[in-house]
Amino acid sequence: MNLGIAGKTAIVSAASRGIGKAIALGLAKEGVNMVICARNEAGLRKTAHEIESASSIKVVPIIADLTKASEIKSLIEETADRFGWIDILITNAGGPPPGPSLSFTDQDWEHAMVLNLLSAVRLCREVIPIMRSQGWGRIVNMVSVAAKQPLQDMILSNSIRAAVIGLAKTLSQEVAADNITVNSICPGWILTDRLESVVRKQAEGQHKTYEIKLAELTADIPMKRCGTPEEVANLAMFLSSERASYITGATIQIDGGLVKGLL
Ligand SMILES: NC(=O)c1ccc[n+]([C@@H]2O[C@H](COP(=O)([O-])OP(=O)(O)OC[C@H]3O[C@@H](n4cnc5c(N)ncnc54)[C@H](OP(=O)(O)O)[C@@H]3O)[C@@H](O)[C@H]2O)c1
Repeated sequence: MNLGIAGKTAIVSAASRGIGKAIALGLAKEGVNMVICARNEAGLRKTAHEIESASSIKVVPIIADLTKASEIKSLIEETADRFGWIDILITNAGGPPPGPSLSFTDQDWEHAMVLNLLSAVRLCREVIPIMRSQGWGRIVNMVSVAAKQPLQDMILSNSIRAAVIGLAKTLSQEVAADNITVNSICPGWILTDRLESVVRKQAEGQHKTYEIKLAELTADIPMKRCGTPEEVANLAMFLSSERASYITGATIQIDGGLVKGLL
């Protein structure tokens, strides 16, 4: 399938590792101009080189902490200055920590809200006027199955991801007539550094080994395996494409069958 997005420009936030990196690589291979961000400069530059070697695209790495409004503003301004337009926005970020529900302080809650909700609000607020002026845009929010089915020991994610779905659904209705789509992806358990650290922390809390905890998580997945970042990237690339032109306001899980609800 020709995705019809060669020559467009994308920002993939939090893209030095894991799911964000796989999406940036996939889009670059489709000929999309690529801007990626993360906090750690060495890791971000290494990823930019890797994506450039695997595609014919020059990747622009911009150091940005998604918890800081001014750094999000600079990320968007630098991208617009460099390319003149922004067609695709993937709002990805790090994830909140797992832990017992009553153990989190106000500060933990505030940090998770800024990282996982306010970063998406700020990115969309900066990018939508640009997309409106172009009459074309694709926004894909990276969320979690936690928004559809609460996960054990993940109250921050279970609560805040649902708010991102509310944001995406609201925006999707307001910008649909401008030919901008807004969709959300809910990954289940995907093999990345984050999954490893979440499983290690849960295992510690439950006095189990990492291997046993991972086997327990996998046993709950109907497909009996975790997903790969590339599998999530394939969905994100499709939703970012010309081919997904009539899909908006959708919240799609990619979880090997983990979510048991009907919708
Ligand atoms: N893996 C899963 O099973 C899974 C399932 C559901 C949802 N998710 C969600 O999907 C998102 C990506 O997950 P992942 O597994 O790919 O994570 P990951 O492997 O830990 O990668 C996280 C990326 O985010 C960047 N990052 C973290 N905090 C940042 C900040 N404040 N500002 C800018 N960049 C930041 C990291 O780079 P720096 O550290 O250099 O900043 C890195 O590039 C997370 O929100 C996660 O909760 C993951």
